Amino acid sequence: MKGFVDEETCIGCGLCPSICPEIFEMDNETGKAIAKDIEIADDTLEDAKDAEEQCPVEAIDIK
Ligand code: F3S
Repeated sequence: MKGFVDEETCIGCGLCPSICPEIFEMDNETGKAIAKDIEIADDTLEDAKDAEEQCPVEAIDIK
């Protein structure tokens, strides 16, 4: 599984990297979140899913 951020939808609230920094980080140029292009480790999946659930604009997909 990987994380994906819809950059059009993200409002740059910064929540996802605070919940799951292993996968999400802020792009300093756009001010939006980006998901690292890496397979999500088993022990990180719960945090990644938390970020997906808690994103206020539902910009995150874990699949
Ligand atoms: Fe953006 Fe949602 Fe993360 S608004 S910064 S993708 S929690």
